[in-house]
This record gives sequence, structure tokens and C-alpha cells, in this order.
Amino acid sequence: QVDESKEVESIVPSYACQRRTTLENHNTVFTDALSLLAENAELSDEDGRGVAFRRAAAVLKALHSPVTDLLQLRGLPCLGGHSLRVIKDVLENGASSEVEFTKQSERFKALKVLTGIFGVGAKTAERWIREGIHSLPQLQDSAHTLNRAQQAGLEHYDDLNQPVTKAEGDTIGEIVAKAVMSVLPGAQMTLIGGFRRGKLTGHDVDFLITHPEEGREVGLMPKVVSWLESKGFLLYQKTTRNSYLESKDGPARPSSNMDRFERCFSIFKLPEDAKQGTKQTETLTEDTPEDTCSLTTPSLVKDEGSESTKRANLKPWRAVRVDLVVSPISQFAFALLGWTGSKLFERELRRWAGHEKAMSLSSHALYDNTQSKYLRASSEEEIFAHLGLEYIPPSERNA
Ligand code: CTP
Ligand code: MN
Ligand code: MN
Ligand code: MN
Repeated sequence: QVDESKEVESIVPSYACQRRTTLENHNTVFTDALSLLAENAELSDEDGRGVAFRRAAAVLKALHSPVTDLLQLRGLPCLGGHSLRVIKDVLENGASSEVEFTKQSERFKALKVLTGIFGVGAKTAERWIREGIHSLPQLQDSAHTLNRAQQAGLEHYDDLNQPVTKAEGDTIGEIVAKAVMSVLPGAQMTLIGGFRRGKLTGHDVDFLITHPEEGREVGLMPKVVSWLESKGFLLYQKTTRNSYLESKDGPARPSSNMDRFERCFSIFKLPEDAKQGTKQTETLTEDTPEDTCSLTTPSLVKDEGSESTKRANLKPWRAVRVDLVVSPISQFAFALLGWTGSKLFERELRRWAGHEKAMSLSSHALYDNTQSKYLRASSEEEIFAHLGLEYIPPSERNA
């Protein structure tokens, strides 16, 4: 029997960008299961299946009460047969047999361990697994030469697989802000990614940098990176130049979802007791000899109490992934919207724009295919308005 109060949820709109999704999730038991299957699909080069599970999970995240009966799901969008089977299994047995089977499979475990290395994607992991490499020691014993990113990823494996807290994000924000202000006074820096959505932890910290005067931001990234490097804050960095071409009547038509801003993927060396201020921070950094970040990753050592592990835990800093993006002020609103996430929310915004509005949305611009023109915006609110969507604030984009 279904009571009327439960029918209210059947008006959930089908695009995640039409919904308000806070971090308060009443259905984690189901969304965790569906997210794991999504992750497994993505790691197996089955993106279509991955998105289907992500969409199903996002619908359940938007509900205001826990699902206790399959009948409550009647009329909800994005719930395919496979997702419904998983939900049914969890409702009836407390867990999904497919999820449990996947979690325990050697293949999934190996994919998780290997893609847990910064710089290693699903394709590389897949290739290694086919060669019988399932663990970090096996990788190290193999003849594979790792690229610079992967070497850094392996070296800082444990640190980078430990969630980053908001407090650590704030400390890094202070350091980056200092770098930005030192090399270009008047430049502005905004926290983006998961922390802007109000998350308490993340896998990295993301910042967007701009300058109120168009063009002043050009060449900013190498200067910021040099400043950070000179103070010993970077363990790794890879800077990519802006490859976005401006034509006479507006930015070039976005051709892919990948944006082309000047950006930097980095690994920060964050002093553990940075709370005492930047002075302390700098002293600590300078006093840390490079060889304390030894080539032995603690996770390679079986014995938890080993000398290597103890030494690693005593190091006065920790490695944290940090993403920096520079945008010209004219594209700032699009960059801000595009880099705040969540990833599914972004994907749904672009799908909405294309399928419902005949528009192309990227992190650079919004193009109206019907009018054959770019739609300008200087705030996220204006972009939602152009798209005919109700404005959804960052804290409600946690789809
Ligand atoms: N993004 C992007 N291009 C990339 C990488 C990321 O546009 N090459 C966008 C993503 O779409 C997302 C945002 O940048 O909207 C942040 O990405 P990421 O840091 O991976 O995810 P978060 O939501 O911040 O999650 P977490 O807290 O785990 O970092
Ligand atoms: Mn609620
Ligand atoms: Mn992030
Ligand atoms: Mn990121």
C-alpha cells in the first residue's frame, strides 16, 4: 500500500540540473551500491552503463526520505531495469549480490589499486592487469617505466588516497592566494569543485583564478607555479597552456567537453601544522630534505609497524592534489559553473542545453544553435536563465 505523501516524490524532474541535490542523502545504502557499479563500469570502459547508474543514484539522492518499498519508485525517472534490480536486492537482502560480487572480484580490486595511482587511468590499469599486475609491489617489480606523474603518484600513494579536509583546503587556499597576489596584484581566486558545493572532504582542492581586466590573466599560471616552486610548496606540477582560440565574433565553437584553459595539475607539499601560519610553513618546508620522501611507498610494506611506515607518518608534511585553472574574466561565469561540479550535474547541464534548448554549453561559452550566436553571461545566474533553468546554488548541485 502506497500512501499519498509518498506519491509526491513522483514529480522528480528527469535532468539532475533541474533538481536541488544537497549533501543530505537519505538513501546512501542504495546510492553507494549504484555508485560502485557506476565506478566499475567506468573503469571497464563502459561509460554508457556508468552514466545510467550515476543517473539512477542521483535520482535517489534527490529524495527527501529513505526508500523502503519498490512501489515508492513508481514514476521516478532514470531508474532502468538493472538499477531497479539492484535496489530490490538491497531492500530484500540488505545488500546487492552484484555489488558484493564486484567488490570481491580480483579485477575490480586491481583496477581500484592501480587507478588509485595519480596519473594512471582505466586504460593503463587494464593493460597492466592483462599482464598480471594486480598490486603496487607487482608494478614496482615489473619492467614498466612510469611517467613523471605516475612516479609522483606512486611515491605519494597513501597521502593522495587519504581524503583532503576542508581545513587543509583552506590552508592551501591561503598559500595559493598569497602566490597569486604576489605575482599579479588585483587577480582574484575562487574555490571551485567539491568544496564550493559544501563537501567536507575531497580527493583534491580546486581553484579558479581570473583578473577583472580582460587579458591581464595571460601568462599568470607559470608565474604562480614559479612562486610556489620557489617556496618549496610543489612536489609535482604539470602546467598546460591555454589552447582556446578567440575568433572575431566570439570564442571558437566548443568542439568537445574538455576545456582548454591554462591549468595546472599539481601535488602540494602541505606542512602538517600549517595552522600556526605561513612563516612556520615556509621554515618547515625549507628544512625538509628531499630524501625524506623516500621511494618506498608505505603501502608496499606489509608490516604496519615497520620502520618505513613510522618514518612516513612522522614526516612533517603531507601530499595533497591541487588543481589550478586560469580563465579570462569574459569566460569566468562559464568556467565557474563548469568547474564547480558535480561531474554528473555538469554532464546533465550540457545534455539539457543540447537536447532541450539546441544550445552548446562548455566551460568557456554558451552557443545558441537556433540564433547562431553566443550568449554572454557574467554570472552563473545568467547562464541558468539563458538555459531556461531555475537557478541551483552550488550547495544543491551535489547530484
Ligand atoms: N573538471 C573538468 N575538466 C577536468 C577535470 C575536472 O572540467 N579535466 C571539472 C569536473 O567536471 C568537476 C570539477 O572540475 O565539475 C571538479 O572536478 P574534481 O576535482 O574531479 O571533482 P570534485 O567534484 O571536486 O570532487 P572531489 O571533492 O573528490 O575533488
Ligand atoms: Mn532532505
Ligand atoms: Mn575536486
Ligand atoms: Mn580536481
